[in-house]
Amino acid sequence: MLRDKRILLIVGGGIAAFKCLDLIRRLRERGAAVRCVLTESAAKFVTPLSLQALSEDRVYGDMFSLTDESEMGHIQLSRQADLLVVAPATANLLARMAGGMADDLAATVLLATDKPVLAAPAMNVRMWLHPATQANVGLLGARGTMFVGPNAGAMACNEHGPGRMAEPLEIVAAIESIFAGKLTAGPPQARLAGPDTIELPGTRSEGALTHRPLAGRKALVTSGPTREAIDPVRYISNHSSGKQGHAIARALAALGADVTLVSGPVAVADPPGVRVVRVESADQMLAACRDASPVDIAVCAAAVADWKVANTADAKLKKAPGAKPPAIDLVPNPDILATLSAPGPDRPALVIGFAAETENVVANAIAKRARKGCDWILANDVSPATGTFGGDDNTVHLVTTEGAEAWPPQSKDAVARELARRVAARFA
Ligand SMILES: Cc1cc2nc3c(=O)[nH]c(=O)nc-3n(C[C@H](O)[C@H](O)[C@H](O)COP(=O)(O)O)c2cc1C
Repeated sequence: MLRDKRILLIVGGGIAAFKCLDLIRRLRERGAAVRCVLTESAAKFVTPLSLQALSEDRVYGDMFSLTDESEMGHIQLSRQADLLVVAPATANLLARMAGGMADDLAATVLLATDKPVLAAPAMNVRMWLHPATQANVGLLGARGTMFVGPNAGAMACNEHGPGRMAEPLEIVAAIESIFAGKLTAGPPQARLAGPDTIELPGTRSEGALTHRPLAGRKALVTSGPTREAIDPVRYISNHSSGKQGHAIARALAALGADVTLVSGPVAVADPPGVRVVRVESADQMLAACRDASPVDIAVCAAAVADWKVANTADAKLKKAPGAKPPAIDLVPNPDILATLSAPGPDRPALVIGFAAETENVVANAIAKRARKGCDWILANDVSPATGTFGGDDNTVHLVTTEGAEAWPPQSKDAVARELARRVAARFA
């Protein structure tokens, strides 16, 4: 989606400027061209040389550079981009943008642009919550600036709360949403437009969240694949991306649940406001689920390998000339869904499993629900033609005691929000 898109990255002078290096890398590996403008303060946190090396382009900073003006010009800089991304957007830079200032190259380019602008604020929590910053952000949102983040969490200044810059992959996701036409302007309460309306992974000031029907409920979500080691360098795994499980964790947290996400190795960003436990094997995933228990809600969205290697080799298996390839004996992995569904004092009130099927999707899911003892199953067709594994969309059936209900094809985010809504209704 980002192939050949031109991003003008405006880097402000905040401690989070170092994250821009990863952001540039993530954008470039998706095919986007990135050109950077640094504020004078930003150059104290990250060197123009690093940005130049990663973007493979000139880095701009000086408004009165004769060479830059004759070669490019500050107006051209913004005109030649498809999108301007301000990251980190410091309190100072946001104030300058809101005030219509043009006192350095970054601010001038932002004032002169006719292109969409996405800002990723990053600052101390008090600076973020200050009425001046909130007013600036409100004004910018009303004028069309889009926002991603900030997230809540521990900050470099030893305080805790909203103000952390969104992670590079969250910024990439927001950029993709803009090019997909899904992200509309607005302050950090900005929403994805249309039927996919969701809250952005940003954080509002406390008290701003009003609809939290799962507040006080604990939820456990598993996501991603597992890796079963053959030897120290090889493993058996599957194509699960973690997108659906991570979206469910985010959707449950957005409704107020206290969520622990146990995730196999994935490339998607951690959902904000969610406790993430990273594991590799099915055994580790089960142990992490037990550590997180008891919970009210368990959603097993991970694609747990059915089998593991019976005798994992301690040293790398070597290829000997003329020798037969080694035989790999498999033994069953623990059944995490069945374990969590087993009757007992700690059984979650609601256990939801996933059935990834390539044929007889509904029939197999109905049988699986009965076999595992879980309450609901979301059944999805993962045959290669559907693009479900790794893709952004999903077509599912919800299987409960009442039967199977077909949901329309929709994004994984939309599936997650609908599931969270059903979970909230179940606990209402
Ligand atoms: C160590 C250090 C870290 C800073 N981190 C931030 C920050 O995260 N966010 C912010 O808004 N300002 C931060 N500041 C203050 C900005 O650097 C300062 O407001 C500067 O004028 C911003 O300039 P710019 O907006 O032109 O980049 C920090 C300052 C220092 C010395």
